[in-house]
Amino acid sequence: MIYKPLVLKWRPRCFNDLIGQDHIVNAFTNAFNLNKIHYAYIFSGSYGIGKTTIARLLAKSLNCINNSINICDTCDACIEIQNNCFIDLIEIDAASSSGIDNIKELIENAQYFPVKGKFKIYLIDEVHMLSRSSFNALLKILEEPPSHIKFLLATTEYNKIPKVITSRCLHFNLLKINNSKIILYLKTILTKEQISFDEQAIIYITNVANGSLRDALNLTDQAIVFGKGKIILNIVVNMLGIVDINQLILIIELIISNNTDQLINTINNISTNNINWEKFLTDILLILHDILLIKTLSNYNSNYNKNILFRLNNISKLLSINIIKKYIDLVLNGYKELLIVDNKKLIIEITLLKLINY
Ligand SMILES: Nc1ncnc2c1ncn2[C@@H]1O[C@H](COP(=O)(O)OP(=O)(O)OP(=O)(O)O)[C@@H](O)[C@H]1O
Ligand SMILES: [Mg+2]
Ligand SMILES: [Zn+2]
Repeated sequence: MIYKPLVLKWRPRCFNDLIGQDHIVNAFTNAFNLNKIHYAYIFSGSYGIGKTTIARLLAKSLNCINNSINICDTCDACIEIQNNCFIDLIEIDAASSSGIDNIKELIENAQYFPVKGKFKIYLIDEVHMLSRSSFNALLKILEEPPSHIKFLLATTEYNKIPKVITSRCLHFNLLKINNSKIILYLKTILTKEQISFDEQAIIYITNVANGSLRDALNLTDQAIVFGKGKIILNIVVNMLGIVDINQLILIIELIISNNTDQLINTINNISTNNINWEKFLTDILLILHDILLIKTLSNYNSNYNKNILFRLNNISKLLSINIIKKYIDLVLNGYKELLIVDNKKLIIEITLLKLINY
């Protein structure tokens, strides 16, 4: 069987497959119902959250026999767009073809009617990378677009697009995808793929993906390879260069009990793995933040399991609010030093020792 990465295998075929971005789907549902589809859209937002995906789905909707947000996914246009071979969908990656020649050619060809579909669609990815003269050429056609043309522009850096262009387009900003949606999506896919997984591993992958579904899927692929077909917690922890939450809480417990020997031992053990120390300190910070909230809020809801919550509760009873705040300050200072010093482990040790002796 030919191996296909999850990002390709699970690329949304219709708007129902899309995760999040509901505000955009709703806007297009209305636009199709009212038959008011603009001639140029810009989709902005960070990496791997669905900009190109939405642009392609829109290209399907515009050329599908259904002519609606409910893509049939069986007509010629739908199938050819899915397979990247639809003649009237012209995809340009401005990051790699930012020269004026490409855009000139584009403008010349835009005058001709679509060959097969209802619309000739120009999907320009990373549009902010176009040269100044390319933008001018694009502007020319945006000023008087023929009715058979649609422009779908995607960018991670909306602010770099000239105002004369943005003011002629409708702008949609895509949001990072929230963690609970990513976790649910990964679990659904893994279940369908019949790949067994550790729930906590999925949570770690999602945290590291930081709102990007592409990153989440790629890390999942990598974890499957590392785990020889399964997603296994300690393998994922190693792969991501993170430290398991039980270890992180142990470190705080050792600090509170002034157990310097075991603290140094634990750090030494952890450092035999390829640790991302910035992430390590941010995770400690997150836990201290949770402890502070447990201490101060009357009712604190968290996603931790019972056992972890029990330990955090105990810690919160042992520390005063002022001490927790001081710990947070010390860790924040340590973080700043971490960014400028090469010997990261040394800074980690010094920072945590300061907490012990406080
Ligand atoms: N909102 C989403 N719903 C479902 N799948 C998604 C979504 N966003 C991303 N993906 C998955 O990630 C892959 C890449 O997404 P896409 O190319 O649309 O990201 P992008 O926002 O254009 O990123 P980039 O800025 O890097 O171009 C898709 O093929 C799909 O598998
Ligand atoms: Mg893209
Ligand atoms: Zn169709």
